[in-house]
Amino acid sequence: TRHLLTASGLTREAATDILDEAVRFEQALLGRDVHKLPTLRGKTVMTVFYENSTRTRVSFEVAGKWMSADVINVSGSTSSASKGESLRDTALTLRAAGADALVVRHPASGAAHQIAAWTTDPTTGAGPAVINAGDGTHEHPTQALLDALTLRQRLGDIEGRRIAIVGDVLHSRVARSNAFLLATLGAEVVLVAPRTLLPAGVNTWPVTVADSFDAELPALDAVMMLRVQAERMNGGFFPSAREYSVNFGLSQKRFELLPDHAVVLHPGPMLRGMEIAFSVADAPETAVLQQVTNGVHVRMAVLFRALIGSEEGSRS
Ligand code: CP
Repeated sequence: TRHLLTASGLTREAATDILDEAVRFEQALLGRDVHKLPTLRGKTVMTVFYENSTRTRVSFEVAGKWMSADVINVSGSTSSASKGESLRDTALTLRAAGADALVVRHPASGAAHQIAAWTTDPTTGAGPAVINAGDGTHEHPTQALLDALTLRQRLGDIEGRRIAIVGDVLHSRVARSNAFLLATLGAEVVLVAPRTLLPAGVNTWPVTVADSFDAELPALDAVMMLRVQAERMNGGFFPSAREYSVNFGLSQKRFELLPDHAVVLHPGPMLRGMEIAFSVADAPETAVLQQVTNGVHVRMAVLFRALIGSEEGSRS
């Protein structure tokens, strides 16, 4: 399929192909003064964001522009959605206006699937490629791919590595996409979270659950901190911010209990001082900005896969 809606639906081979393609894009641009490849010349990519974003929206735009696509950014708050136009009418309008790809972020879980269903001709399969850039608490597949690329670069291989995903798992599409993709790539994934911030169906995930962050630290190859998603908590937050920070924050003291080779990830935006200590956020073992750079290359690979497929020689 041309769409990328979930990370959990990717096979190991498909995910590895995207990561390898991302590395090829990185290498194709290495040492160039001008970041411009002709790969997607004549293609129109529309980013459609109904939720705020810095990293995902910017890196999709950079990725498209570096491959010479025409990139148009549509935001929920400045489009006619603010006048009451439905998501379906918006999606069909963007298809009619010439979108070859729709990169969608939306607060409702399943929104990207729904847009793909609305905009794809059921007989011919024609219509824009739909890429999920984060849908509610469901999935954020390109985040999981860029995290996997970062872990591969830092650790050499993901197979057999023990990786903790820590914090507000309940509201985190990053946690879900990563738990499934990392397991597909052969990692042992452990969730460390307050019981109140674990999803009901977590027993169907390919993970184990641990209560004590401290007990896990010495055996970890990587620790992935999550953002506390206050905007999805309807005003209620249990444990309190202080309890959360004391029990589930990556303090300097906890950081020092990790093995020397261990990597720290955070998808951003970081709430420094609560989820992660200021000193840890800036430590060389923390790969937050490497994650962002990898996000551009992964999104180049994802757009390439969606719009061109596996044609040879398109990166020259
Ligand atoms: N990690 C992530 O999705 O960040 P943004 O919300 O800034 O895109």
